Amino acid sequence: MTDTTLTIRRPDDWHVHFRDGDMLNAVAPHTARQFGRAIVMPNLVPPVTTIQAASDYRDRIMAAVGAEAGFTPLMTCYLTDTADADEIAQGFKQGVFSAVKFYPAGATTNSDSGVTNVKNVYPVFERMQEIGMPLLVHGEVTDPETDIFDREALYIEQVLTPILNDFPSLKVVMEHVTTKDAVDFVRSQADSGRLAATITAHHLVINRTDIFKGGIHPHLYCLPIAKRELHRLALREAATSGEAAFFLGTDTAPHARHAKESACGCAGIFTAPTAIETYANVFDEENALDKLEAFASLNGPAFYGMAASEETITLSKTTWTPEETIETAAGDPVRIFGGGEELAWKLVD
Ligand code: NCD
Ligand code: ZN
Repeated sequence: MTDTTLTIRRPDDWHVHFRDGDMLNAVAPHTARQFGRAIVMPNLVPPVTTIQAASDYRDRIMAAVGAEAGFTPLMTCYLTDTADADEIAQGFKQGVFSAVKFYPAGATTNSDSGVTNVKNVYPVFERMQEIGMPLLVHGEVTDPETDIFDREALYIEQVLTPILNDFPSLKVVMEHVTTKDAVDFVRSQADSGRLAATITAHHLVINRTDIFKGGIHPHLYCLPIAKRELHRLALREAATSGEAAFFLGTDTAPHARHAKESACGCAGIFTAPTAIETYANVFDEENALDKLEAFASLNGPAFYGMAASEETITLSKTTWTPEETIETAAGDPVRIFGGGEELAWKLVD
């Protein structure tokens, strides 16, 4: 039964993890099937810190998705304590780097080379502000004494606010926001037009109780971790508001199933195969399908100073059941978020 369809400009994903090698080859086509462009996270091992490394990685992504996908990877530079402002500015000028990613050291998966003291990278921020290059922040404090559920809210106060004050025209994206505090803060700065936030599909669907429903669900563990229900509701309200400061970034973060189902399972949720359908379902539930295009296809490019896609995609209200996993050449399946459960929207190929 299919009678409702929705056609929107082809969306972009402003936050993806593609990894490398067999994993890259297995996951990247899923993103390229839905999205025209994606901001590619640089947290490889070793991290992507040079123009050469980013350009080589971009070539490997293009080889994995194929030219016929019509997909453009937008590369990012991983910020370290010793980052070179000249290299970063040069990479931006050449169109290799679209943005810089700032991980506080130790905040999340592969962030060991991240920044230990924000003052170390002030010269880089200075240059980025001059040239209009966006800074993408993983917004969690890393003090091990801080409760994991409080890390995002404290980051706003302790790290983000000083950066915004010290660099009044630096463009900043608070990545994968998970709290009402972040939504309120981004809104409070909306007039400036230089602070935005990405919102993942999974944070619109799960709250922290879901992680522990009937037992521990390692495939629902990611960073920043899902918060209380009131925060999920605030995220749904923000995403479906159509406001320019909120746009789509899945943070799709594949890990082999054995690495998730472990005594110390890693953080990251793999949403790429069903991302746009999961968002569509949320917007439908919120009676806001008319706002999906702004969130998925318009607000992101406008913030980054790019044109919206001229292509379109069509979604159909058709119940189907995605696979539970995808396979990789290395023989390590990756669990898909919502895999094996009915989904009410489907991308029409
Ligand atoms: C990401 C990963 O696996 O690389 N994990 C996650 O839980 N989101 C890193 C990140 O974006 O924090
Ligand atoms: Zn991420």
